[in-house]
Amino acid sequence: MKHKIMAMAVALGLALGTVTGMGVASAADVKALRDTPVNAADKAPDTYKVQDGVKHERAYRQQPPLVPHDTAKYEIDLKVNQCLRCHEWPYSDQEKAPKISDLHYIDRNGVRQDSVNGNRYFCTQCHVPQVDAKPLVENQFKPAVTGR
Ligand code: HEC
Ligand code: HEC
Repeated sequence: MKHKIMAMAVALGLALGTVTGMGVASAADVKALRDTPVNAADKAPDTYKVQDGVKHERAYRQQPPLVPHDTAKYEIDLKVNQCLRCHEWPYSDQEKAPKISDLHYIDRNGVRQDSVNGNRYFCTQCHVPQVDAKPLVENQFKPAVTGR
């Protein structure tokens, strides 16, 4: 019973934003990215032109490289994956496209397979076309620098 009352007091404190000692921001400090009411449709997001052919360095070693070309027309579903027709070997040689790295062929048990594994099938889950978009929120992100 005592615990229950304590939990309720903390929950109430959180809701009112009064537990400042615990580093919880008050409601007034939190700015939502959404500026339309919940029951209204959001306005369509800005569209950006893909920076074709520009090479951006990776910001950290494990980063999936950005896509230097438009991807909107390439279908990826259960039956087809059009990214593969250029990026999978041996097509990659013919199309002069960078070959998908071997990590994309390893299944969740660490076993190397002969075709792109399901966990890497939906390419655009990780690889996004590069655009000159402004950050959604102000931040101090800096690329990791190796070899220093
Ligand atoms: C018609 C062939 C073609 C198709 C289809 C295609 N690509 Fe590409 N892709 C290329 C070529 C060629 C390059 C190298 C372009 C360059 O360096 O400017 C490239 C570059 C890339 C890179 C950069 C790799 C690196 O090492 O920097 C990524 C990531 C990529 N593509 C992902 C995709 C994804 C995801 C799809 C599907 C949505 C896709 N591509 C479909 C031809 C293709
Ligand atoms: C789960 C995230 C993820 C998915 C899904 C994924 N990739 Fe990648 N990809 C990466 C990462 C991380 C790297 C960089 C590390 C590496 O080379 O494996 C990469 C690297 C690449 C490269 C560059 C290879 C090189 O040697 O420069 C290409 C091309 C590529 N991916 C294409 C694809 C294509 C095409 C698909 C869809 C069939 C795909 N990827 C799906 C994460 C992903």
